[in-house]
Amino acid sequence: AKLYIPGDSGAIAVGADKVAAAFADAIAARGLDVEIVRNGSRGLYWLEPLVEVETERGRVAYGPVKASDVESLLDAGLHDGGAHRLCHGLTEEIAYLKRQTRLTFARCGVIDPLSIDDYRRHGGLAGLEKAVATAPADIVAQVTQSGLRGRGGAGFPTGIKWKTVLEAEADQKYIVCNADEGDSGTFSDRMIMEGDPFVLVEGMAIAGIAVGATKGYIYSRSEYPHANLVMRRAIEIAREQGILGASVLGSGHAFDMEIRVGAGAYVCGEETALLESLEGRRGIVRAKPPLPAHKGFLGRPTAVNNLITLASVPIVLDKGADYYRDFGMGRSRGTIPVQIAGNVKYGGLFEAGFGMTLGELVDEIGGGTLTGRPVKAVQVGGPLGAYFPRSMFDTPFDYEAFTAKGGLIGHAGIVVFDDTADMLKQARFAFEFCALESCGKCTPCRIGSTRGVEVIDRIAAGVEPERQKDLVADLCNTMKFGSLCALGGFTPYPVMSALTHFPEDFAPAPAAEA
Ligand code: NAI
Ligand code: SF4
Repeated sequence: AKLYIPGDSGAIAVGADKVAAAFADAIAARGLDVEIVRNGSRGLYWLEPLVEVETERGRVAYGPVKASDVESLLDAGLHDGGAHRLCHGLTEEIAYLKRQTRLTFARCGVIDPLSIDDYRRHGGLAGLEKAVATAPADIVAQVTQSGLRGRGGAGFPTGIKWKTVLEAEADQKYIVCNADEGDSGTFSDRMIMEGDPFVLVEGMAIAGIAVGATKGYIYSRSEYPHANLVMRRAIEIAREQGILGASVLGSGHAFDMEIRVGAGAYVCGEETALLESLEGRRGIVRAKPPLPAHKGFLGRPTAVNNLITLASVPIVLDKGADYYRDFGMGRSRGTIPVQIAGNVKYGGLFEAGFGMTLGELVDEIGGGTLTGRPVKAVQVGGPLGAYFPRSMFDTPFDYEAFTAKGGLIGHAGIVVFDDTADMLKQARFAFEFCALESCGKCTPCRIGSTRGVEVIDRIAAGVEPERQKDLVADLCNTMKFGSLCALGGFTPYPVMSALTHFPEDFAPAPAAEA
């Protein structure tokens, strides 16, 4: 039998390595014929370490498993899917998974991440095989037709970005994968790198062939040591297998890639600061134009795409543009891997077609708060995303619907807060975060963020609060329209949404009783 124990860093953080070691010892001691596979995570984080065993009926799940549970699990016949208090039945039947549409994450948590055979058996490389037999302009047309938009947050149509790069004349072009996943409550990029790294290799190779780039870089982060290790190994294996190199799958197209690791600046997730960092300089935002698609890495045409965007390309090529396009709503096509985090009962990764409402995601899927207290607010789209009150829970997950309500989907992270959250403190945090992470290039962000902290502090102290609130609104307006990039430009979203939807938290503190 095969026993799957996640090697995902989220699972390791709650003891998966210890569980794996305990199983290895107990299996040897009992002389059982069981092979341990370290898979990625299924994304059901409240059940990690989630151990699965392959049976004739399918995979059976147990979790959360502690090392001290191992003997009782084996006594209960876990290796044959035996009953136990930690057993959740067939993995595929777990409601949280069953409700999902897993396209980008189809293999994550299912396969052995570094087994190319496993990858192929589960549909891997089918997209690349089609791509090498397709004219570059037709690959770009298919991606455009699929409706795929940038999953970093801006939602720019991927096919149009690729077309710009394809049509740019240059001796060398590049693909850059933005894996600098810095938003609060986000972990989808990490999960792919740890759980299904070949899908990213495949997506980047397809992108390279489509736009005429022979070299790709993954810009990852030092906070992801484990993901970087798996990804590096996957790239080596892909080279050994002829998936990367001088002739991708024997097609005559050359494409190779490597991983570079940033040092932890949030602004390096902004594409031009990322390129500066990749070129070996401090991560400072460059003015656009020129767009990276025209003058990017080393001044050459570069497709900078978010990791999830690139990891979604193989399925588009494999199953066809219309298949992908059929999921979703409005102009938001396909699926979105939502990451549910913060004070929430069932935190994890939930991939579904666009269109689910925020309320469904937080209350039904997420199960409300972990503390059991009422949900007060959710922040969607990272530290620069807006806070949504319960009254806006009918907002569907859709780029345009969120924009219309003064918010953004960003990288699709949702952070849940209960009624003990103080929204004035959250607004202060937004300014403080911006002040800490500002690259310093433009004044509204560099200076405005610090002035913002001071003004919020005056509101908290009850010093002319109404005047200070007007000042906050004025400052936010300046930052929104005067900043060079999204860091300064989007800080007003959390601040103004907190102020608008939770005015009670900005009222002067009641005078202490004498
Ligand atoms: P943007 O709207 O300026 O550009 C989006 C992308 O399209 C860029 O890659 C740009 O180079 C490209 N582009 C624009 N016009 C093009 C054309 N004609 N041809 C080819 N390419 C073209 O947005 P930006 O500044 O890249 O990102 C801002 C967004 O980032 C925000 O909307 C926010 O949602 C998101 N964000 C994401 C964060 C994260 O951690 N994932 C953090 C902060 C913000
Ligand atoms: Fe730099 Fe902030 Fe200006 Fe962006 S908005 S360019 S981070 S100073």
